Amino acid sequence: MNIILLGPPGAGKGTQAARLQAARGMMQLSTGDMLRAAVAAGTPVGLQAKAVMERGELVSDAIVSALIGERLDAASEQGAIFDGFPRTQAQAEALDFLLAERGRRLDHVIELAVDEDELVKRITGRFSCANCGAGYHDSFRPTKIEGVCDACGSTEFKRRPDDNEETVRTRMAEYRAKTQPILPYYEAKDLVRRVDGMASVEAVAAQIDAILDGN
Ligand code: AP5
Ligand code: ZN
Repeated sequence: MNIILLGPPGAGKGTQAARLQAARGMMQLSTGDMLRAAVAAGTPVGLQAKAVMERGELVSDAIVSALIGERLDAASEQGAIFDGFPRTQAQAEALDFLLAERGRRLDHVIELAVDEDELVKRITGRFSCANCGAGYHDSFRPTKIEGVCDACGSTEFKRRPDDNEETVRTRMAEYRAKTQPILPYYEAKDLVRRVDGMASVEAVAAQIDAILDGN
């Protein structure tokens, strides 16, 4: 099964994709994570993407579509979870092409619907473990013991450079201008399933599970 998680910054795409990967063996393909890894490694793609990401704007369609193309073959039998891709009409068409080339298809486009003020709170409170990448939030999902990662015990944490309020507003404007307009493309194919992204992490997970299990 191949699914897209579509939603504005902070909607919970990464949280739900990581859970689905762990629970179902599907592969999370996050263009944001791929770009951050490229920035950290100082590759040519990373050098180009760094400033664009810090402004909260979109990286070029050619770069992100190539990143997805490189990873798609590794996606397991259980399929792929596209997290943060596609974000433009050109990316949606590129994804169709990449899947068709491999004789695969999209099963669902899951839209996480959320309220923008909640998103700013979610994003500005977010941090992750510098060692294992486990994601947390100052108020919604704190570590069980303060300052210690639940998953690996590390005491080193990090915050994303684009998680400040000003950049978050730009990222949301980009979502409204370029990503939301691709929904009709998928509605025409009857692939869009809407989920209430304002609910708790567990309740959102249950809604997604019901869609994937055909209930
Ligand atoms: P990307 O990394 O994709 O960031 P984003 O879309 O802005 O999304 P986020 O990662 O901020 O949020 P999320 O929806 O994953 O939420 P999360 O689960 O973390 O992209 C970053 C940048 O890279 C872009 O701005 C762009 O420059 C570039 N880029 C990436 N892909 C691109 C593409 N395809 N084309 C062009 N450029 C691209 O949750 C957020 C917080 O809320 C967490 O703390 C979490 O614990 C908490 N939380 C999650 N769910 C809930 C819940 N139900 N209730 C309460 N709290 C919750
Ligand atoms: Zn950890």
